[in-house]
Amino acid sequence: MRFADTIAPGVCTSGRQETATFQVWLIRTSRPAILAVFMCVVVTAPAFGQTHGKPDRQQLLFDFGWRFHLGDAASAEGDFGYGEHASFAKAGDAAGAARPEFNDSSWRKVNLPHDWAVELEFVNVNDEDVRSHGYKPVGRRFPKTTIGWYRRAFVIPEEDKGKRLTLKFDGVFRDCVVWLNGHFLGRNLSGYSEFSFDITDYLKYGGRNVVVLRVDASQYEGWFFEGAGIYRHVWLLKSAPLHIPLYGTFVSTETADPPSGGNRVNVETKILNENDARASCMLVSTVTGEDGSVFGSASSELLVLAHDEQRILRQSIMVSNPRLWSVESPQLYKLVSTVHSGRDTVDRVETHFGIRTVRFDKDSGLFLNGKPVKIKGVCCHQDHAGVGSALPDGLQYFRIRKLKEMGCNAYRTSHNPPTPELLEACDRLGMLVMDENRLMGSTPELAGQFQQLILRDRNHPSVMIWSLGNEEWWVQSSETGRNIARSLKRVQKEFDPTRLCTFAADNGDHYPGINSVVDVRGVNYIGRGDVDKYHREHPDQPLLGSEEASTYCTRGVYANDTLNGFVSDYDVNAPGYGSLAEPWWKYCAARKWMAGAFVWTGFDYRGEPSPYVWPCISSHFGILDVCGFPKNNFYYYQSWWSDKEVLHLAPHWNWSGRAGQPIDVWCQSNCDSVELTLNGRSLGRKIMEPNSHLQWKVAYEPGTLEARGWRKGRTIRSKVESTGEPAAIRLTPDRSAIRADGEDVCVIEVNALDRERREIANAENLIRFELEGDGTIIGVGNGNPSSHEPDKYIGGGYQRKLFGGKCQVIIQAGRRAGEISLKAFSDGLKPATVRIKTEDSEPRPFVPQ
Ligand code: GAL
Repeated sequence: MRFADTIAPGVCTSGRQETATFQVWLIRTSRPAILAVFMCVVVTAPAFGQTHGKPDRQQLLFDFGWRFHLGDAASAEGDFGYGEHASFAKAGDAAGAARPEFNDSSWRKVNLPHDWAVELEFVNVNDEDVRSHGYKPVGRRFPKTTIGWYRRAFVIPEEDKGKRLTLKFDGVFRDCVVWLNGHFLGRNLSGYSEFSFDITDYLKYGGRNVVVLRVDASQYEGWFFEGAGIYRHVWLLKSAPLHIPLYGTFVSTETADPPSGGNRVNVETKILNENDARASCMLVSTVTGEDGSVFGSASSELLVLAHDEQRILRQSIMVSNPRLWSVESPQLYKLVSTVHSGRDTVDRVETHFGIRTVRFDKDSGLFLNGKPVKIKGVCCHQDHAGVGSALPDGLQYFRIRKLKEMGCNAYRTSHNPPTPELLEACDRLGMLVMDENRLMGSTPELAGQFQQLILRDRNHPSVMIWSLGNEEWWVQSSETGRNIARSLKRVQKEFDPTRLCTFAADNGDHYPGINSVVDVRGVNYIGRGDVDKYHREHPDQPLLGSEEASTYCTRGVYANDTLNGFVSDYDVNAPGYGSLAEPWWKYCAARKWMAGAFVWTGFDYRGEPSPYVWPCISSHFGILDVCGFPKNNFYYYQSWWSDKEVLHLAPHWNWSGRAGQPIDVWCQSNCDSVELTLNGRSLGRKIMEPNSHLQWKVAYEPGTLEARGWRKGRTIRSKVESTGEPAAIRLTPDRSAIRADGEDVCVIEVNALDRERREIANAENLIRFELEGDGTIIGVGNGNPSSHEPDKYIGGGYQRKLFGGKCQVIIQAGRRAGEISLKAFSDGLKPATVRIKTEDSEPRPFVPQ
């Protein structure tokens, strides 16, 4: 913090009748603006800036060095005696594997995040839930693979005595029981909500502590692949007894709409005194840039808190001419909250936030910072190729970048609270979020989950609206539904009055029930009712498409194939309630009052293999496949959602045995007109209508199919060529250097090339992988929705077939800087090697094993 000048102090009187100095500080920031900040400081408090001492707060990753073993839902014997002896009768008297001294040396070592469901073989069981969960043997029918036990030993140093320690789980699927040192701590049902325990009373300082979880995934919460296990991060939080509790800061901004000049940052901070005695303290809240430059600050009066007393403080900080958070320029600020007691700084919490306005207008849709923004969104589930639901943070960024490349500006976390790091990626990369609750209900369990979601996520600038739920068929049109929605809306307004709420409703043009309660009407599928009529009848309710399209496509496949479970990659297949990409977007684009919509889905996900069943194990709805490889519709959306020049031809041009037969050629482009040529012969020039595509029927002959497009006076070309036999492998990493921090990932695309080094779009070669250096392959995939090849090869031996000419390898860095090299082999092909630099990088603080 840089104080340039102090203006002569004035005097004011505090409520406690002590004399206080009233000072106006002039803070000269790195920017030209000079900001005045008013501070009221009681003289008995230490002068701000003079306190010292390192705050006790630490946030340590608790992900490494776990032991894992499957249990058994049907027998106590296979479940380490669980249920055989009373585990819940006496404090500290857990039985079986929950006992700290249990010998787990034969259990497998795992690091988090971990999803055991993705490690299991596929099973062909004809059951709706098993099918919708991607044919993995998890659920009531599979007692031997539906329970997972996790154990982790750790040491807490003597010097931590006197601090408060909390163990925080970002997400465990699902229904888990947690013990520490033989003590039952509690149980958490939800597979998506975060939960935590203050473990201070149970710790052995300077000695060995053991945390144990029994995770029971036998009940589902969704109708899609959900994973199983501790699939998000775990943290150990340490703080002084006088501290800001979890989610104790709420930052909101008061900005004129449209924004103009000044901005008030309103800060609400909880302070809790868990000292045995009363304690006095002062809160200083400072707004800084990401680089630490100070924009403004406020300081509280001296507070005296009794033992176990909690207070909420409200402060305002003016920031002049802030740089606003937007999709194009996601500017972030930091609120640094410090708690000072005596001469010590006892706590310090950083909260990232952004300054922006969001407004839903009944006639003109969404406004961000006063400017109209059409929602060009996607719904997504959380799994990815190779890793299931256990995504390293780097993959969240990889996925959001892919969506942005398409011109997508909004993400719906269907149908559950997301992983926190997904929101961080959206904050940092510029992606609006519709943040969704899981099961709707107003009881302490269910309303509590929603409240927890709001408390956790309300400081994220990317979050633009809360979703109370999705397609609650049994209640959405009823009075019960309306009552529940009202209760949830009350919760939302209490904990975040700055945002609006919606509900993803599939009951067409109905109003009664949940739709009559929410601020913004969410429509799941324009085909499920007359949306124009709804808007006419309820013109005062803003409206967005919470779910649209549900188009079926398999990447690189050009005919429906019921045997293999593939659907054509032209935009020609959608279920009755859904629609193809073009018609829904044309409908939405033509209606100013429709704020935009979210396509079902951005990426393919495991489960919901409609329109097929086994051997198909994965959905076909994605605009990108489960690896993030684009299907053809990617280029449709990119043409009309982004500013990029797009000229994309499909299909590939390898149709040996089909000479003379007609092939449908589609061109996705935002050019004004496009001419197609085959081996140099013109097949005609066509004019592009906005939000459309162009199509030709072409008699196949091998060679080069080329498109020439004209856009804004420029000529653009693209081509597809008939390629030769596979001759070599190519490896393309998404980044050439990653951090050697034990967490960062590199995503590598694998292709087969012919002798002229052209990518072969329909190659299917089996590729084997070897890794050298300090890193690990953590998964492979290829986007084939009917592949039963493993994503994981526990113990090594990774391999994967190409599908549509591509497969993907995900590598995670170790902590030794240097180089990782991935080698790829395939029978008859020239092998390939790619080297990835792993750069020296301070790992995030973690609890050592
Ligand atoms: C919707 C539902 C989604 C998914 C989709 C498939 O009705 O909300 O979760 O099932 O259908 O088209």
